[in-house]
Amino acid sequence: MTHSRYASSRRAFLAQAGALGIATGIGTGIGTGICGGIGARPAWAASDGVLSRAIPKTGERLPVIGMGTWITFNVGNDTALRAGRAKVLETFFERGGGMVDSSPMYGSSEAVIGHCLGRLADKGSLFSATKVWTPFKWLGVRQMEESERLWGTRRFDLMQVHNLLDWDAHLETLQAWKAEGRIRYTGVTTSHGSRHEEMAEIMTGQPIDFVQFTYNILDREAEDRLLPLAAERGLGVIVNRPFQGGALFDRFAQHPLPGWAAEIDCANWAQLFLKFAVSHPAVTCAIPATSRVDHMRENMGACYGRLPDAAMRARMIRHVESL
Ligand SMILES: NC(=O)c1ccc[n+]([C@@H]2O[C@H](COP(=O)([O-])OP(=O)(O)OC[C@H]3O[C@@H](n4cnc5c(N)ncnc54)[C@H](OP(=O)(O)O)[C@@H]3O)[C@@H](O)[C@H]2O)c1
Repeated sequence: MTHSRYASSRRAFLAQAGALGIATGIGTGIGTGICGGIGARPAWAASDGVLSRAIPKTGERLPVIGMGTWITFNVGNDTALRAGRAKVLETFFERGGGMVDSSPMYGSSEAVIGHCLGRLADKGSLFSATKVWTPFKWLGVRQMEESERLWGTRRFDLMQVHNLLDWDAHLETLQAWKAEGRIRYTGVTTSHGSRHEEMAEIMTGQPIDFVQFTYNILDREAEDRLLPLAAERGLGVIVNRPFQGGALFDRFAQHPLPGWAAEIDCANWAQLFLKFAVSHPAVTCAIPATSRVDHMRENMGACYGRLPDAAMRARMIRHVESL
């Protein structure tokens, strides 16, 4: 895909983006606490045209496509595999990606992210997000400090409580760290449609900035309660498992891409699935994971061009459910 292809549809996209509350171009406020130099970006990778959404609490803009790292970045010390993941991350930044999401639960992923970031001159618009995942408050502090060391950062953009584990204790720490300027945003996560009631209680009662949960073209439970509540409470929404862990490709990729996919600038199934997820008005970004540069190129294509409106979203659902 080329940048010019998207430039040609920019006018149509802008008209639609206005209606959806989406904007092109990444704001300058995306902070990175990551150490290291920033180099020049390739000319074709200019941020103009990148679809972004405002973080509700601050208005800071985030590209609608981020990157997950569960399994895909858990490659240990293997030199060749680490070099391959550095290429994936480089491609992500070149094409305007923003949030990188990880967790101490993801094996060596945080160490591999730190290794890759250390090799990249251009960390693009990195928005660093990880999690705390332990039943002990004191161990949570140690764990977050270890994550800082592994990533090579003095300040994460976002720290989330993974799978709501001991969330009340960890949120106390996160509020204190935010007040001290050690993190910029706080959040909680769940996945696979589980514990939505408890998540809703936290969203209603706690001063958090982001929530993360599963939302994709087949798994749409979040539409009932969590997505409307996030919009009402002014919370950023991060979509995990936008490909249902890859199962959407197993189920649908053998079918031809419908002709109308071109109307929303989708050249492949990956872009169709991602544009479905990020076109919900309450969603801030999706974090698909991949171990492959060619897949990253496909996925980042969803960060450009037109997004589906409500009628097109309904058509997308009808189509996949008919296959
Ligand atoms: N509770 C939580 O906090 C929680 C739970 C689940 C997930 N998450 C976060 O959300 C992220 C995303 O979820 P996920 O990793 O479970 O699943 P996902 O992003 O829905 O799917 C990942 C799978 O899709 C494949 N894939 C990616 N791009 C592709 C493409 N263009 N064409 C074909 N296949 C493609 C990948 O394989 P290849 O490597 O071959 O591309 C991988 O197997 C996680 O990595 C993690 O950061 C958080």
